[in-house]
Amino acid sequence: HDAVDIIRTKRDSGTLNRDQISWVIDAYTRGVVAEEQMSALAMAIYLNGMSESELGHWTRAMIDSGDRLDFSSLSRPTVDKHSTGGVGDKITLPLTPLVAVFGAAVPQLSGRGLGHTGGTLDKLESIPGWRADLDTAEVMHQLDALGAVVCAAGTGLAPADRKLYALRDTTATVESIPLIASSIMSKKIAEGTGALVLDVKVGSGAFMKDLASAEQLARTMVALGRDAGVRTTALLTDMSAPLGRTVGNALEVREAVEVLAGGGPSDVVELTVALATEMLRLAGKDDVDVAAALGDGRAMDVWRAMITAQGGDPDADLPQARDTDVVTAETSGVLTALDAEVIGIASWRLGAGRARKEETVQAGAGIELHVKAGEAVTAGAPLVTLHSDESERFARAREALAEAFDITPAAEGADADTARSV
Ligand code: URA
Repeated sequence: HDAVDIIRTKRDSGTLNRDQISWVIDAYTRGVVAEEQMSALAMAIYLNGMSESELGHWTRAMIDSGDRLDFSSLSRPTVDKHSTGGVGDKITLPLTPLVAVFGAAVPQLSGRGLGHTGGTLDKLESIPGWRADLDTAEVMHQLDALGAVVCAAGTGLAPADRKLYALRDTTATVESIPLIASSIMSKKIAEGTGALVLDVKVGSGAFMKDLASAEQLARTMVALGRDAGVRTTALLTDMSAPLGRTVGNALEVREAVEVLAGGGPSDVVELTVALATEMLRLAGKDDVDVAAALGDGRAMDVWRAMITAQGGDPDADLPQARDTDVVTAETSGVLTALDAEVIGIASWRLGAGRARKEETVQAGAGIELHVKAGEAVTAGAPLVTLHSDESERFARAREALAEAFDITPAAEGADADTARSV
């Protein structure tokens, strides 16, 4: 095989066969196909797409580039969730213990955040003592004992994707439906889960900004899962505004713990319950009262055991940023929009996220939202509180936030103002 031939075929909108695809992925993983060649191929795929059969072969080759876990010896059925990524998306934290309450096992092998969306491991690492790196024996033991584990995906799972995702990130080839679908599904299929619920995000804070492309991504991933024998379904959920009232690592853990204690913001609770219900349905457990386990402490008990098993102290105080800065409303009215992407970028600038893989994140950095879309605000009242260890970051975050809030004067307020000015 010849990499240049393969690139030329895709460049000219041709179709690659199974042999060509398995060769190019394997040779790239071994370093025989160079980064610049894979970069050209990724761009050709970005521009010309892939047929259904090419996508199937591509995903299979990515799975075959590494190890596959096998949970068939567990006494509980396995079911996992994957979110395509959003702002304030801390759902994995309450969801994993909640699903475990009902006898399923949730193997959440997760990643760290890159760009404006946060990573689940970064959030959990704000809990003193908690460690993300478990070996396979520890994962199996914890799944058997508790039914819940959130840890780092080992380097052995889909190593081709590890290289390719980093390359796509630097060559403007991330936002391609076949490349995203094969990247996500190769990791989840290699992970060995029996069932999978995909939370496909739509809106300004998501990869897919419109409903049609989110639907296409969802259908593509569901088909790949089913072809591999994984019971897979997808929910399309809104990511035009952040989830909940906190964005940032320790701030999001605090909110997740509120949900596990039976409180928390209603959008976070509703999505957690909807995803848990769907996961349990796929695991063969219909007719369970999922919400009850948030109210009566059962999900909290599993959370505490899950954090403790990985060295964390569930009772420890969470880290707080050294400085805060309150942004207030300039006018009164109703907050009609609160842009998820802008909030995500501002939180990232405060130190909650990283621009390069090697960077560390600040546990306490992020944004607390005092007002959500649809709620009333008065001039001078707090809209958000910014948190950071470095106060010099506030100015850049405020700059990003300039476009985040849309405040429409309320009808009555407008009348009163007019009356006064006459
Ligand atoms: N998440 C992934 O794991 N891969 C992608 O390509 C996009 C999001």
